Amino acid sequence: MVDPVLKWAGGKRQLLSDITARFPTEYDRYHEPFFGGGAVFFHLEPDGGSMNDLNERLVTFYEVVRDAPEALIEENRTHEHDDDYYYDARDEFNELHRTEEKTSKQAIREASLLLYLNRTCFNGLYRENSDGEFNVPVGRYADPDWIQAERIRAASDALAGAAIHDEDFEYVVDEAEAGGLVYFDPPYQPVSTTAKFNDYHAEGFDRDDQRRLRDVAAELDEVGVSVVLSNSPPVAELYEGLERFSVEVVDATRAINSDGDGRGEVAEVLITNVPEGERRRTTLSEF
Ligand SMILES: C[S@@+](CC[C@H](N)C(=O)[O-])C[C@H]1O[C@@H](n2cnc3c(N)ncnc32)[C@H](O)[C@@H]1O
Repeated sequence: MVDPVLKWAGGKRQLLSDITARFPTEYDRYHEPFFGGGAVFFHLEPDGGSMNDLNERLVTFYEVVRDAPEALIEENRTHEHDDDYYYDARDEFNELHRTEEKTSKQAIREASLLLYLNRTCFNGLYRENSDGEFNVPVGRYADPDWIQAERIRAASDALAGAAIHDEDFEYVVDEAEAGGLVYFDPPYQPVSTTAKFNDYHAEGFDRDDQRRLRDVAAELDEVGVSVVLSNSPPVAELYEGLERFSVEVVDATRAINSDGDGRGEVAEVLITNVPEGERRRTTLSEF
């Protein structure tokens, strides 16, 4: 088991055992189309398979972790714990994002800045404004660790056999084969009108995307792929017509850290086509 390198909104560490309890006892390749911090992937350390996220900078980060871990660690050692440095780093990070066709040196720099900002920004929350710029102010930390040498080396090993994609989640229809397993953790539909749910990426994720995801889950089911999805209760009704899928509810603390974004305890639903008798372990009652 490897610790995730980045803190990410919607991180699944508290729900790991509930999620993996629904995985089949045996499967071939593992795919995670909404990767974020990749808590489930790093927990499993699967052999082969794929990861994907629509957030380009996040994907560059994992490519660098996989392909150039030592260069990344070395670059991480160049940062400073200082407010002015933070805002300069944030500007440089956004400037690099506007640069097309990055050199590998620029990709390493961008990855290193992402980790530095992730470890020193307010609440550790990645957010972009509508222009796709990272806009989180500096946080207050006594001794933030943005070097993360051991985690990067371990994550690099875990990612070694994984195909890395930067596209919409539908790529997985072509990538996954019978006997494989897909875990989907999309941006959530808000339970209340005040909850923000589409701040992960400037493009957001709406009810039509949730329907599209349901259709992809059904398509994968038809070709013999095991599917597990986490989501928020308002999405459960979309799966009512899918006979082979069960929807189960679980209470989860989804705050990114103890005082995180204030969402506190909320119910989550776990949706899967893996029959109870074929799961690693069953713990929850039917929804
Ligand atoms: C709930 S987070 C995943 C959290 C992750 N499971 C973890 O442990 O940190 C959702 C992720 O989906 C990505 N995303 C949003 N829309 C997407 C889309 N259409 N296709 C693929 N990824 C998308 C976001 O960039 C975000 O990183």
